[in-house]
Amino acid sequence: MNATIALLPGDGIGPEVIDAAAGVLEATAARHGHAFALTRSPFGAAALRAGEPPLPDGTLRDCRAADAVLLGAVGDPAYSDGPRERRPETGLLELRRALGVYANLRPARVWPGLEGGAALRAERLRGVDMLIVRELTGGIYFGEPRGRSADRAEAFDTMRYSTAEIERIAVVAFESARGRRQLVTSVDKANVLESSRLWREVVTEVASRYPDVRLEHQLVDSCAMRLVSDPGSFDVLLAGNLFGDILSDEAGAVVGSLGLLPSASVGGSGGLFEPVHGSAPDIAGRDAANPIGAIASAALLLRHALDLGAEADSIERAVGTALADGCRTADLAAPGGPALGCAAMARAVLDRLA
Ligand code: IPM
Ligand code: MN
Repeated sequence: MNATIALLPGDGIGPEVIDAAAGVLEATAARHGHAFALTRSPFGAAALRAGEPPLPDGTLRDCRAADAVLLGAVGDPAYSDGPRERRPETGLLELRRALGVYANLRPARVWPGLEGGAALRAERLRGVDMLIVRELTGGIYFGEPRGRSADRAEAFDTMRYSTAEIERIAVVAFESARGRRQLVTSVDKANVLESSRLWREVVTEVASRYPDVRLEHQLVDSCAMRLVSDPGSFDVLLAGNLFGDILSDEAGAVVGSLGLLPSASVGGSGGLFEPVHGSAPDIAGRDAANPIGAIASAALLLRHALDLGAEADSIERAVGTALADGCRTADLAAPGGPALGCAAMARAVLDRLA
């Protein structure tokens, strides 16, 4: 297969983890006889430094022309206090919106061998395997009005969901649950928020079309607690943009490290694939990042955007074998214990691809 994949390395550890994932994509192409053209475009603070907006027009064109986009990370302390149009994160929100990728799939599971190193006792982690389905192009991230009064007396955001937006993301959750353990836990704050009351109603209506899938509703605060006390009880977690953002970082800590989690943003044209972690400026440029989130995102890209399921499976198997063999980046290693750098971990996965 011929495919063009737009790489957006972005900021902080983004370039390092994208180099790692690009190596895995190239090796996969070579092994399976595919021709992947990997392009690189400026994005985030890297674009701002070059005097461009965080999502330059040329970068958006490259993304639209590609079959899929693989993104590293955005965010840079040097730009965090700037106006909205000059913040790296704004570029990411614009990109998600421009590509129309409303469904953000964030799988989180405990890899064999990592039970002991994660934040929770090994017994609690047995069988943890969940998929967070996060609504990505609506909610409080995009709702209008937003802003602040000229005298700085107040600032405001709007949490807003249309019935159509809730319905289409609920469909993604129920369809995903059909291929898993047939349970959807829908997260909201329906005891307080109007948008959550509509969310609950619409999700319940969609559920009636899926009699084979069980639906439960859970308030976001108690869901945050259950994610720590009983993480194995979740299958598909369906959440709006903000709640999904918060719970997915928590899920990262539960399974051992946020650095492990990949994501697929789909529903629009092509697809946008990115690790769940941020730019980690504290360790950027030191070859200390965990590349597995990015490598696993490349696997999701192959499965969801290019329909190359067998290739995706082989990458995930190689990741699993590397972890089972005891390969650990610093985020996974025992405190003060030996750790592989980003490039060495990528090499460990490459070595196990065959
Ligand atoms: C994520 C990130 C982004 C988000 C930021 C960088 C805008 O935290 O992908 O989870 O909040 O969606
Ligand atoms: Mn986040």
